[in-house]
Amino acid sequence: MKKIIPTLIIVLILTTCEKTPPVGGCEDCEPDDRIQATYNPQPYEIQLPEWMPDPVIPEDNPMTNDGVMLGRHLFFDPILSLDSTISCASCHRPELAFTDGNAVSEGVFGRTGVRSSMSLVNLSLNTKGFFWDGRAESLEDQALIPVEDHLEMNEDWTNVEQKLRRHPTYPALFRKAFGIEKKSEITRDLTVKAIAQFERSLVSANSRYDRVIWLNDGWPTDSERRGQQLFFFEELPQNQQHPGCSHCHFAPNFTDNNFINNGLDDVPDLESFVDKGRGEVINNIFDNGKFRVPTLRNIALTAPYMHDGRFQTLEEVLDHYSGGGHGVINEDPNIQPFFLSEQDKKDLISFLEMLTDTSFIKKPEFQSPFQ
Ligand code: HEC
Ligand code: HEC
Repeated sequence: MKKIIPTLIIVLILTTCEKTPPVGGCEDCEPDDRIQATYNPQPYEIQLPEWMPDPVIPEDNPMTNDGVMLGRHLFFDPILSLDSTISCASCHRPELAFTDGNAVSEGVFGRTGVRSSMSLVNLSLNTKGFFWDGRAESLEDQALIPVEDHLEMNEDWTNVEQKLRRHPTYPALFRKAFGIEKKSEITRDLTVKAIAQFERSLVSANSRYDRVIWLNDGWPTDSERRGQQLFFFEELPQNQQHPGCSHCHFAPNFTDNNFINNGLDDVPDLESFVDKGRGEVINNIFDNGKFRVPTLRNIALTAPYMHDGRFQTLEEVLDHYSGGGHGVINEDPNIQPFFLSEQDKKDLISFLEMLTDTSFIKKPEFQSPFQ
């Protein structure tokens, strides 16, 4: 009996050991290639309130806590750029609602780009393509582009894959996010999937507008209320001369994501736009000079404005709209001249300022994990 008990214990220990999931499973891979970490994915619940549409998440990239965490690291890490100086966050800074404060962005070696950085917010609601011209169909496709853009990160994806495979911590983060067993399984494909997961987590739904209008938490000031009526054409009698912002900037996300010419450029014909925008992507001259309607959430934080950052202030934006465009043939019919008094302008701007969500820009989970 005395001998049987220790033997039993040893047998028990051995069998329990066998049942523990292998940490970095693969039996056949080279020891250098094996990743040591536990894969135990937990679904990430995207936090959209009920007054917003359902998020669109691709079936082949479900969100997990570890996926979002890996994406956050990659987003804030200059490892994706050639000289390790630029990260996604260099041009998409949390405190500026993920824009960069420049008219056009600055990439590696101080090279200037051609368009203004876009704010990253509630991206899972957009199904009509990303960038000002919609040329990237998904966030996964989008994230492939800046890395190899010679004006932005100027790096080569094969190099990025090598850097990530050799890195002291990324292999474990990739295993936790995607269950891969070998460092050599780290690819650009998984890299952009993780970045897209992090980007989908960037939800803003706690602005003063959300609280006052959707949650009935507090009252708008008189100025905000008048601004709201000027913004939403539905709130005023038909046929009244009106800014009509909500024709294109639909609530709750303040965009319909369509491609529209909002009358910025005074060109003699459709060939003459400096930046052809949507027309270049779908190769249709009638779409030249059309750009995606951007969200107005956090708009007070994202100056300068428009695809080329031509307006410094919201006052300048309002002056543009009240001018009614230039009569270029593909301008949207809702771009019409209207009168705005100084008080009207103040009121519209008070309304736009209600869309600022300070809890969004300060959320700890949206800041650099390297601080
Ligand atoms: C050098 C500055 C710069 C860097 C670096 C950069 N971006 Fe951007 N980003 C921009 C600009 C400018 C645009 C608009 C470009 C256009 O429309 O052609 C943009 C657009 C986007 C959009 C489209 C948003 C929308 O609503 O359509 C996403 C998403 C995005 N960037 C994510 C990223 C990610 C992820 C990275 C890192 C892999 C990154 N960006 C790196 C400047 C930058
Ligand atoms: C006919 C559709 C339409 C109407 C009406 C409209 N917009 Fe826009 N808005 C757009 C488009 C399209 C853009 C992007 C244009 C570009 O950059 O080329 C835009 C851009 C903006 C921007 C800049 C956003 C950024 O991220 O740079 C602001 C601010 C804005 N609009 C506010 C308003 C306000 C306020 C009104 C009402 C006075 C209004 N818009 C009416 C279509 C419209």
